[in-house]
Amino acid sequence: MKDLFVKDTPLHIDNEIELLGWVETKRDHKKIIFLDIRDRTGIVQVVGDTRLADVSTEDVVKITGKVKKRPERLINPKIVTGEIEIEMTNIEIISKAAPLPIPIDTDGYEIDEEARFKYRYLDLRRARMTRNLVLRSQTLMFIRNFLTKKSFIEVETPILTKTTPEGARDFLVPSRLKKGQFYALPQSPQQYKQLLMVAGIERYFQIARCFRDEDPRKDRAYGEFTQLDIEMSFVTQEDIMSLTEDLFTSMVKELFPDKKISQTPWPRLSHSEVMKKYGTDKPDLRKDTNDPSELAFSWTIDFPLFTEQSDEDFYHGSGKAKFAPSHHMFTAPHPDDVTLLETDPMKVRGQQHDLILNGFEVGGGSIRIHDSKIQTKVFDLIGFSKDQQKQFAHMLEAFSYGVPPHGGIAPGIDRLLMALLGEPSVRELIAFPASSGGKIAVMDGPSKATDEQLAELGIRTIEVDN
Ligand code: AMO
Repeated sequence: MKDLFVKDTPLHIDNEIELLGWVETKRDHKKIIFLDIRDRTGIVQVVGDTRLADVSTEDVVKITGKVKKRPERLINPKIVTGEIEIEMTNIEIISKAAPLPIPIDTDGYEIDEEARFKYRYLDLRRARMTRNLVLRSQTLMFIRNFLTKKSFIEVETPILTKTTPEGARDFLVPSRLKKGQFYALPQSPQQYKQLLMVAGIERYFQIARCFRDEDPRKDRAYGEFTQLDIEMSFVTQEDIMSLTEDLFTSMVKELFPDKKISQTPWPRLSHSEVMKKYGTDKPDLRKDTNDPSELAFSWTIDFPLFTEQSDEDFYHGSGKAKFAPSHHMFTAPHPDDVTLLETDPMKVRGQQHDLILNGFEVGGGSIRIHDSKIQTKVFDLIGFSKDQQKQFAHMLEAFSYGVPPHGGIAPGIDRLLMALLGEPSVRELIAFPASSGGKIAVMDGPSKATDEQLAELGIRTIEVDN
């Protein structure tokens, strides 16, 4: 393992060091040749001689040399190592690089996404993408520390599971042991986190991968994305909102100090109010949308529990009911509105809270139903047949063994960071995103299964043109 990162070279003035990295640039002045050597942490200038003649950009090299302070007039304030340079004593070319198929010395926005994703391992070398991965890692670490200090437990829930209806199409995985049956990849760990509350975990979180087969958009990844999934027992919406506010306010302060949260406490606006005033349930409350440092967080609350069911609400099956859950079917009605479930369901408010940042819905959650009778009533209203309701029998049974009132939230990590950094798409925050058309570009997936694999699963495919 190398023990010196580029950013730390200025700590070794007048010492002999060993530098491992990539050649970012080469400037050839015949007798003197300059290289910029890059690693994850930055670049540093190396002053060498004709022994560098065969070196080309993106080669992986080992340089030995002495760290020298630069004369005042040659200091480059734009880079962290600008006060020094390395006087080369030796060079070893560890690995040669062919000319790259995409440029990596720009911010990359100008390059076609398909090409960037095919060569993602090169695309990630650009400084902006490396920075995004570093910030993502720091974000996850901050969240883990923050919640652990507040007595939350991180619990991993299954990826091979049964459908969790969140409103999108499922990914199915065929079962070999039960031929003709399928696992579904979780659209979110919603049911598991509620079952963990029945289990007495009380404060749960997970950095959870969620899978949804829906068309990509700039704020929506195709296939999979990551949520910070949180659930708590014995809570109010107030508790959930203030915990989230506390978490992200301290995170912005520590990790994104050049960003300014424009309004605290974060405004809480009722659904009817935002719709009337802004015509959307995710208003962009920035005072100046040209200002890249402004973060306008807000909450949208008091959503109606139901919306009119549309053709797209395929997830609850029958398609004949009038009502669809506006969040999901586990969201609790406002306690004052429970009787309206019988008389005027469209008037029932749900205990749902959406977290909005600069016009994006970056999180959603609710207080959950923990009363089997109310849950069954909601199933009826959204048109679940008795057979469909049986799919959730485990939830109703679990609730019969002593269930604490509970609720939670799930901010989307990719989308939150996209909005926070002002990136144009969630894909800028995902190491290896799928491209449009569901292509796993680096690996050229999806791919056909072999006849043997299909036979083992008891599956026959039909030829189709994709
Ligand atoms: P919901 O479906 O609203 O709620 O999702 C929560 C948050 O996840 C993010 N998100 C996405 N991010 C990137 N790409 C996608 N395709 C994508 N889909 C969703 C958004 C969204 O606000 N189980 C509930 C949460 C709960 O009730 O606690 C749920 O999944 O930022």
